[in-house]
Amino acid sequence: GTITFVEHDGTAHEVELVEGVSLMELATNNGVPGIDGDCGGEASCGTCHVIVDDAWIGTTGTRSDEESAMVEMSAECAANSRLGCQLRASSDFDGLVVHLPEFQM
Ligand code: FES
Repeated sequence: GTITFVEHDGTAHEVELVEGVSLMELATNNGVPGIDGDCGGEASCGTCHVIVDDAWIGTTGTRSDEESAMVEMSAECAANSRLGCQLRASSDFDGLVVHLPEFQM
């Protein structure tokens, strides 16, 4: 399966889905620009902000209070904003599309 990260300018990066691995790790392991993961996945830096495509919100679910506390600090926070480090890939995510904000925190 694959997961696609779409940059703010529309550039798409398709990466291989690895079950149990977070979207932050999949992005950084595959050199997707704009996902930094500075805190190593501790939900405390906000540099893994992704915006789940509307078509997929039913699959990924919505963010936790912990994630809200981080992503709401971003000027680009959207209804479907998530922390990529808190979204663990499962087989259900095959074909998932997430968008990247123009600027990470
Ligand atoms: Fe730091 Fe996700 S990697 S909040």
